[in-house]
Parts: sequence; structure tokens; C-alpha cells
Amino acid sequence: MSSGLRGIKTIRDFDLAGKTVFLRLDLNVPLDGTRITDETRITASLPTIQYCLDKGAKLIVASHLGRPKSADDRQYSLEPVAKRLTELLNREVVLMEEPDSEGVKHILYGNMKNEIILLENLRFDKGETDNSIELANMWASYTDIYINDAFGASHRAHASIHAFPEIMGKKAGIGFLIEKEIKMLDSLMDHPKKPYIAVLGGSKISDKIDVIEKLIDIVDGFIIGGAMAYTFLKAQNVPVGKSLVEADKVKYAKEMIQRIEARGKTLLIPVDHVVSTAFGNVENKKVTPTAVIGENEMGLDIGPQTIKNFTAGLAKAATVFWNGPMGVFENPAFAEGTFAIAKAIANSPGVKIVGGGDSAAAVEASGLADKMTHISTGGGASLEYLQGEKLPGLEVLRPRKQSEQNIE
Ligand code: 3PG
Repeated sequence: MSSGLRGIKTIRDFDLAGKTVFLRLDLNVPLDGTRITDETRITASLPTIQYCLDKGAKLIVASHLGRPKSADDRQYSLEPVAKRLTELLNREVVLMEEPDSEGVKHILYGNMKNEIILLENLRFDKGETDNSIELANMWASYTDIYINDAFGASHRAHASIHAFPEIMGKKAGIGFLIEKEIKMLDSLMDHPKKPYIAVLGGSKISDKIDVIEKLIDIVDGFIIGGAMAYTFLKAQNVPVGKSLVEADKVKYAKEMIQRIEARGKTLLIPVDHVVSTAFGNVENKKVTPTAVIGENEMGLDIGPQTIKNFTAGLAKAATVFWNGPMGVFENPAFAEGTFAIAKAIANSPGVKIVGGGDSAAAVEASGLADKMTHISTGGGASLEYLQGEKLPGLEVLRPRKQSEQNIE
């Protein structure tokens, strides 16, 4: 077992037969009205759900969805998720509005046959984000075993992620998804196969500094695209017009370029761009012949020569970590660079791991998801973990001193 999972029990360590299992999942899926536009997080949760059912557990599934202000924000109801789970599992998923209702107990202690309970959006109760002990105690009153498989939410010290497993003590562990996520992310830090290339994009360097610092001694090279590349170009005194630049990070970018060079590592940044006069303006879209961007223009995607350079840089990579799109890929006019890099990574011969969030969405949209070794279901959580931060949802599951509270 990899170091990140040290001391943590997995679902295999428990006898689930006849037990009430509270399974915290991250079913925070994107919705268009009531239509689920990407069900990756649901399908990624199925192995743990199925395992619980096969072992004869009484199953209570719980998740947050979005960031509702109150229980009146009905667009954040888990109803569409309940429907989809019912279809995928071929058994009834009962959505319970009130987690402390008699209904839950009635199903649990009375007539639970084939159905699964899904608690309504945990964030409808403010106690969830407040890491409320009262709320956790209420769940504990009917739970035998707590399993966290919500990797994407494990960086949040919320009641269902932190206070609850703390109360459950030895009766708490992780599911198959978290186990896989941590093993995959650990493989990026512990003896990764070389050459190892990190592809970073997205809008801000400031979001990526900590991960860059972690990776700088491990990787053989960085490929930098997306808006964060303009700060690197600015650091090299290349005119970037109206492109997004983090003025207070130009100095850092300059130092980083020097440090990468001093270590004999490669750094690929854009040598041409797809630009326009305003964000999303397709009419004035054009390709620059060089890295220079005109005064009235802004970079919105990487250009064709850059795609060639980046693709060549990935051709022999034995390990690739990708986080952040190469351009404004949500707009088809500026998506070519991101999709081309997704393809180059998919075609690279080694291990390819995609951090969650936008890059995961881009891989899904490009139809290349099955070519990747692993696509993380947690954008924020995977970055925090790689940065070396302790995830509250994992730390709480490590063995504690005897003196601390445990339900036996
Ligand atoms: C995510 O989408 O990254 C997770 O579900 C966590 O959601 P949050 O950022 O609203 O806590």
C-alpha cells in the first residue's frame, strides 16, 4: 500500500453483512437543469456501491451538490442523481429529504429490501460545511460503518468528511475510488518512470505555484500553456497585448525559468497563439506568426507550431501529469490546442494521469478518456494532495491515540 494510505482502513477490512453502511460519495455532477452533463463521478462510485450491496450491507449514500445557500435552492437537489443511480444499479434509490427523519429509520430497521437510501444534498444543512458534531452524531446514531469514497471533497473539513469519521473511529475507512486516486497520485511523486513531463495550463500561475515547487525536482520537463503561459512570456519580455497576465507573478515566472534551466530540464512555452480582440470574440480570431501578441489582442489558445512542439515534447514521455487546459476550450473556436494536447498525451507511450476539473472535462469532451491511465475525480483535492497538503478526509482516518474517542 502506498504511503498516502498508511494506516487507513479500506472497505475490505470490514464485515459489511447486515450492517448499516454510510457511504460518503462525491456525486457533485454538472447539471444543465435536471440533465446530468457528465456522470463520471457517478460511474466512478459504482464499484464501492456495488461491493456494499454484494456484501449485504444496508446502504445509506450521501453527497453534496454544488454550493447551495439554503435548502430552498432546489436546483441543487440530488433528485437527478437519484434517478440515474436507480437506472445504473437497477434498484430503487430512495431520496430522503430529512436525514434525521423517521423515514430513514423506518427503511433501515423496517422494510429495507432492495433499495438504497440517498440523503438529499448534505449542504442543505449548514451543519455540513460547519463540520457540525451534532449533525455527525445524528448520522452516527444509525450507522455501523462509515466509508469515505468522496475523493473530490476530501480536502474539505466538513461534517460528513471530518466530524463524522472522527466520531466513528475504528469503524471508518475508505472505498475503492479514494484508494485508486491516492495510489495514482502517489505514483506521480514516488519513483515515476522517466522521462516525466508535467503539462500545466489554466488561467493562473498562483493556483499552480505549490505544485510546480513539488514537481520541479521530480519531473524532466514542464509544458506550459493556457493563460498562465502569458505570464511566462511577459517574464521573457515578449509582448502579450491584452492577454491575461498575473503582474505580481512575473518575477516568480522569471525565477522559475532560471531554476528549470539551471537543473538542465526542459521548459516548453507557446511560440505562437490563437488570438482575438476580446474574450470569446470569434470574428477577429487569427493565428500569430510568432509568440508576439499585438497590443489590441489577447491570446485564447495555443497556435499550430506550439501544438507541434508540445506534441513532440510528449511523444516519448513515460509519465505525464496534466492539469489545466491550453486555452478557452469551452468555446469551440479556441478548443483546438487543448484537444490536440489531450490527443498527444493519449498517444504518449507511458503512464498518463489527468488532474480533475477542467482538464478532466476536456479529456471527456475530446472522447479520449479511455486512453488515459487515470483521470482524477477531484480537481482541488488532487492538486492539494500533490502539493503535499494533508487532506482532512484522509487524515481523520489514520489511527489515533488510544485515549481518543472511538466507537467500539
Ligand atoms: C469539486 O467539485 O471539486 C468537489 O465536489 C468539491 O466541491 P466544492 O469545491 O464545492 O467543495
